[in-house]
Amino acid sequence: MNRFGFVVLALVAFQTSAFAQQGDASRGQQAFRICAACHSLEPDRNMTGPSLARLWGRKAGGLASFERYSDALNSSGIIWDDRSLDAWLTDPDRMVPDNEMPFEGIKDERARADLLAFLKEATKLGTAPPRTAQGPMGGMGGMMGGMMGGGQAPNLKTLDPTQRVTVITHCRDTYRVTTADGKTRHFWERNLRLKTDSGEDGPQSGAPAILQAGMTGDRADVIFAAPEEISKMIEPRC
Ligand code: HEC
Repeated sequence: MNRFGFVVLALVAFQTSAFAQQGDASRGQQAFRICAACHSLEPDRNMTGPSLARLWGRKAGGLASFERYSDALNSSGIIWDDRSLDAWLTDPDRMVPDNEMPFEGIKDERARADLLAFLKEATKLGTAPPRTAQGPMGGMGGMMGGMMGGGQAPNLKTLDPTQRVTVITHCRDTYRVTTADGKTRHFWERNLRLKTDSGEDGPQSGAPAILQAGMTGDRADVIFAAPEEISKMIEPRC
């Protein structure tokens, strides 16, 4: 190879690695949608995974408000920065065996750089994008307001009448659920999931919410404000 050829190759190599380090934050924002199913960017708003607000410089497993860290992550000694996050997102299981993040990793270096470029800005305090899924998605017709928005759990503090449960009865293998609009629906008892959300997004005490679960229409979640409300609310009656 002549000298000119070498210089061109070196330049190409330099540009590629410079690109990879910079990353494209707007493409990264798209990629973050996968993460948003489990992670919010608002301080202490925890879902399946911990809030990622103020992530840079934080100790792994170190967010005090998150109750569900694995021992593995907790005792890893990792401090989150560009380099450690790149390794974590490449292959979480390789970096921290026995961690409990259900995510296999992003093998594409460019895609990771884009995501990190977005995260580095978006996790700074006061820069979190506004909540998109505020309240039930009325337009989709009451019960459909579940997790259809691609991640963010809807706030259940104010419910429309189609979602606000007033009575639940149980007879043999069947639940009958009546909502504030006066409608009653039947569910095979295995198709009705009883859940709680005692947090900011959970329902008011005494006003559980019903949300459709899955696509077939025969399943739903009823979400209560606290576990002790569940059996109190369900009347055995045929
Ligand atoms: C299906 C849910 C889920 C998805 C999807 C997911 N995570 Fe996680 N993530 C978790 C859980 C759960 C933990 C805690 C793991 C543990 O304690 O072992 C976690 C932990 C983390 C941590 C460590 C935080 C800390 O406080 O130490 C980071 C950083 C992280 N995830 C980033 C991401 C990014 C970026 C994505 C998207 C590419 C993503 N996660 C996708 C559930 C998820």
